[in-house]
Amino acid sequence: MIAITGANGNLGKATLSFLLKKTQPENIVAIVRDADKLSDYAGSGIHIHVADYENQESLEQALTGVHRLLQISASATGIRAMAQETRVVHAAVKCGVKEVVYTSTLFPEESAHFHAAHICRNTEALIRQSGMRYVFFRNSMYHETIPLFIGEAMGDGRIFYPSGTGRVSFASRKDIAEALANVLTGPAFDNSTHDITGSETFSFADVALKLKDIAGYQEAAHTDISPEDYRKGLLGFGLDEEEAGFYASMADSIRAGEFDKTHPSLEGFLGRKPLGVQEYLRGLF
Ligand SMILES: NC(=O)c1ccc[n+]([C@@H]2O[C@H](COP(=O)([O-])OP(=O)(O)OC[C@H]3O[C@@H](n4cnc5c(N)ncnc54)[C@H](OP(=O)(O)O)[C@@H]3O)[C@@H](O)[C@H]2O)c1
Repeated sequence: MIAITGANGNLGKATLSFLLKKTQPENIVAIVRDADKLSDYAGSGIHIHVADYENQESLEQALTGVHRLLQISASATGIRAMAQETRVVHAAVKCGVKEVVYTSTLFPEESAHFHAAHICRNTEALIRQSGMRYVFFRNSMYHETIPLFIGEAMGDGRIFYPSGTGRVSFASRKDIAEALANVLTGPAFDNSTHDITGSETFSFADVALKLKDIAGYQEAAHTDISPEDYRKGLLGFGLDEEEAGFYASMADSIRAGEFDKTHPSLEGFLGRKPLGVQEYLRGLF
């Protein structure tokens, strides 16, 4: 049995749809905290198990009988996220899960600026020590984060973001999902770690130029605002300190070059070139 956590989320659902092309629905366990959020899969033959990352017992029930697990990283932040991911690993070990693919992040190092990198670093270590066989997907930023980073610039191309000249090897979430489905239905896991990236890196000045080309925005340009002004802006939008710190840490990590890395792993898992930023942006206009 193959299980996916966060199965109704963007990455989980996309992986589920690729998985259904590669294996029988009876082999799949979709783990969600609200079954209604996967109602379009009711009657599809997949097993829908309800569990909350906050509740160890529910995770143990959901993972009973599972051989292979896709552990999608938590969407919470800080200590809560660390505790949630730890519970999933402990539940998997207790239930005798043999193999786990975990969606980590690029550059999960001690020195990383990105707050989530420290959660991923901790979860990777727990999995390595657990005795389960593993594959780590150290994902770069999704294409789909671009509109989130640049906000109103989607309407005029004027990007205000504190990333300096930092570059990002953006990758398509859909491609990552397809690659995950290939791993989940592929050979025995080999305790391997992969940087999952697009084929090129882009600065936000490059993204602005793409918007100029694709959307025809004549004013398109990147302005490198100060990290402090960015953080204040986020607080002004109603984010709390932890959330604002999280998003600011993302920009800090880009500025520090922690996402400025490409690797052919994603292409290897897909057996074709990954989708590019250009194609993604074209699809939005
Ligand atoms: N590389 C990147 O650029 C990037 C960008 C964004 C996120 N991420 C990471 O990648 C993960 C997957 O991305 P995504 O786009 O699929 O995120 P998403 O759409 O926000 O999905 C998150 C999933 O986690 C589930 N979840 C949240 N809290 C839970 C809890 N307490 N118990 C059980 N399930 C819970 C959500 O369920 P509900 O619908 O019930 O909340 C949802 O299914 C994220 O969680 C985050 O760690 C990476």
